[in-house]
Amino acid sequence: MKDPIKGFSKLSKAAKLEWLVTNNFEDAEAARTVLTAYWHEDEALQKRHDEFIENTMSNFYMPYGVAPNFKINGKLYTVPMAIEESSVVAAAAKSAAFWMTRGGFKTEVLGTEKIGHVHFMYTGDASALKEDFSSLEQELLQATAELTANMVARGGGITSIKLIDATDRLEDYYQLEVTFETCDSMGANFINSNLEEMAKCLENFTDNHERLDANSLEVVMRILSNYTPRCIVRAGVSCPVEELASEGVSATEFARKFKRAIAIANAEPYRATTHNKGIMNGIDGVIIATGNDFRAVEAACHTHASRSGSYKSLTGCSVENGVFTFWIEIPLSLGVVGGLTKLHPLVVKSLEMLGNPGAEELMGIVAVSGLAQNFAALRALVTTGIQKGHMKMHLMNILTQLEASSEEKIHIANYFKDKVPHHREVVNYFCELRGVPVPKVGQ
Ligand code: MEV
Repeated sequence: MKDPIKGFSKLSKAAKLEWLVTNNFEDAEAARTVLTAYWHEDEALQKRHDEFIENTMSNFYMPYGVAPNFKINGKLYTVPMAIEESSVVAAAAKSAAFWMTRGGFKTEVLGTEKIGHVHFMYTGDASALKEDFSSLEQELLQATAELTANMVARGGGITSIKLIDATDRLEDYYQLEVTFETCDSMGANFINSNLEEMAKCLENFTDNHERLDANSLEVVMRILSNYTPRCIVRAGVSCPVEELASEGVSATEFARKFKRAIAIANAEPYRATTHNKGIMNGIDGVIIATGNDFRAVEAACHTHASRSGSYKSLTGCSVENGVFTFWIEIPLSLGVVGGLTKLHPLVVKSLEMLGNPGAEELMGIVAVSGLAQNFAALRALVTTGIQKGHMKMHLMNILTQLEASSEEKIHIANYFKDKVPHHREVVNYFCELRGVPVPKVGQ
């Protein structure tokens, strides 16, 4: 077992690296070589990355791809995606091209309000809190006036404060539920700072109120919620059914099976999880490329998918009067200012590539990317199956793992042009080409 280390975060980067490679790897030199190979030669840029988090030892590269030809509300976008899964960008580009000639994607932001809570316990009689809530509300607004001034000037701020009696869910549990408009920022720091100020104000209010007992109050947490059911965007596509013929499947058959596929995701959480995972392939790639918080978006989308009490599809589909309509409606809390947006040079370029959208426009682009990904997945699933496209994109990974030369890669890619390149078959063909024995299964 390793010895624990004290005060690691206070060491210099060089000392941290020294400790890391000598205490955690069999070959310290080899580990050092790999970790430092990814350091940026521009020291100022590297320092910026070092400072994003604590104990930065290296940079973790992800492919940064683009999917062109996304027609959204009549405007053409090239969408940046940071993602490691081989088929995602190709799928996005394919869907974008498909829908570009069928009217493109339409989006609508249905709300932009975010929510945060002061979670507290009150063990006494809370009726005075309820009766005098309007004076508490005024005090809360006054206490946060300085913090909200800039946001108010930009058109945002606190939009409502409610006292929620949640004692039916948990004994003595109450909340201050506060909603915010945070304009073009995701607003996490803004919301949390306000909630922390509000918690102090609540304590003072209880302390100074003759019918309330400060000893009966315990503020447990003050934190935004990443579930943002009032910060919602809808994106959709629509076309006559007859324009849907695909991969040898008739248009009517395609529309019928596509609709069924969504019905199955709505009826079966096992399938819904994979269905929504495919949607998140499209969403996360853009979220990361634009410097947003993919964990927050993931959490919100999965809560949204479960809002009925069982986990369902994030997308919907209808076929009516010969028209196929396909849509997504999801909570997306995004920012185009603050966070990494001005700090990470690639994030700056991603936003510029998208025409420096506001947060609402970006919500639309991200939702479209999720919808496009789901369209590509379902289109493949109800026709040829996904392995054909997926393994084709994955073929290069397999060949790189086999240390194939560039010539061998070209030759093998050509051989598998019209075949599904299953792993074993690629290995077999590679060995045959090289004239070496095929390794036994498991080797
Ligand atoms: C793979 O990353 C995503 C899919 O499995 C999604 C789906 O099945 O809908 C293809």
